[in-house]
Amino acid sequence: MSKPAPLIVLAGGSGFVGRHLASRLAAHGYRIRILTRDCARARDLRVLPTLEILAHPAIYEPDATLRAVQGAHLLINLVGALHEARGPTRKFEWTHVGITRNLVEAAERAGVRHYLHVSALGTAAAQPRSRYLMSKARAEACVRSSSLDWALVRPSVIYGPDDDFLMRFATLLRLAPGLFPLTCPESRLAPVDIEDVVEALSVLIREPALDRRTYDLEGPESRTLLEIVRAIADLLGVRCRIVGLSDGMSWLMGAVLERLPHPPFTRDNYWTLKAEESVGQGELEAARCGFERLGIEPQPFLDRAAVYLRRFHPAGPGPLSPKIPRVTGSA
Ligand SMILES: NC(=O)c1ccc[n+]([C@@H]2O[C@H](COP(=O)([O-])OP(=O)(O)OC[C@H]3O[C@@H](n4cnc5c(N)ncnc54)[C@H](OP(=O)(O)O)[C@@H]3O)[C@@H](O)[C@H]2O)c1
Repeated sequence: MSKPAPLIVLAGGSGFVGRHLASRLAAHGYRIRILTRDCARARDLRVLPTLEILAHPAIYEPDATLRAVQGAHLLINLVGALHEARGPTRKFEWTHVGITRNLVEAAERAGVRHYLHVSALGTAAAQPRSRYLMSKARAEACVRSSSLDWALVRPSVIYGPDDDFLMRFATLLRLAPGLFPLTCPESRLAPVDIEDVVEALSVLIREPALDRRTYDLEGPESRTLLEIVRAIADLLGVRCRIVGLSDGMSWLMGAVLERLPHPPFTRDNYWTLKAEESVGQGELEAARCGFERLGIEPQPFLDRAAVYLRRFHPAGPGPLSPKIPRVTGSA
């Protein structure tokens, strides 16, 4: 009898990165178990033949987590949130640190040796006012002090056909009445294609043992947010004046917008973006090294954004190409 395919557990696998990763893994025969608070969120993934969806309580309570990871070859933590909400299990401290601690402990107890953790770029920069980054940094410390074979992946902002970055700006720009106020215009970002992130994770998944190293992942083009949003407007053919707001006005926007039930921008987002302004050259080079060490050539933002934005084109989306060849293109 042939050996069953390895089981990979994706905590937070119902989200943007999780969906793309699950599709890739299923295509290569892995068994996948997605842990989610709400099975309905991952309903459309049921078409993947080797996928199981497990409803998991928001608190990732230790015994339930132990059962959820039992039998896994590898546990991947994709749980994350950019905004906090009401209730202790919706705060950064719980979402990033508490859940990571429970997952790590469950993996240790269940004998799951391999643990892959997705954090965020910027945790190494000193920006104590960003509770998002500080909680991500504490989660990383929890992983580093574990007895597991781990790898940490820290991507910059990720874009793709169903993201919350490129598509959000595209939608807002198309609705803008000729003027578009932009918070934190001078923040410097090097957006990274979801395909490259999935490729990086796939390379690590294929490793026989994770090497307890951190992989910072950035795209090859570093631009200010203002330059990025102007480029998106150009690609869409939207005629709109994009006006960068001052620091004070950006902070104020955060203070006002964070009162909405689903805030598009908060004061904590402001401090997170301010940290991007202070990312040093050393960190940027380290970020490029992450892909290099994995043998991947990240794809240029403008070329790929043009492909993803075709759905907004009046003549229809057209074929989803070109695909820029990578150094590695394997499963
Ligand atoms: N997207 C980016 O640009 C980007 C950039 C840098 C780093 N990252 C990091 O990459 C990871 C994956 O990102 P993503 O874009 O896929 O995020 P996402 O689409 O928001 O999905 C994250 C998942 O986390 C789970 N989650 C969120 N809050 C939770 C809570 N309080 N308790 C339990 N589960 C919770 C959700 O699962 P359920 O709702 O199904 O339970 C959700 O599916 C995250 O750690 C994120 O911080 C993302």
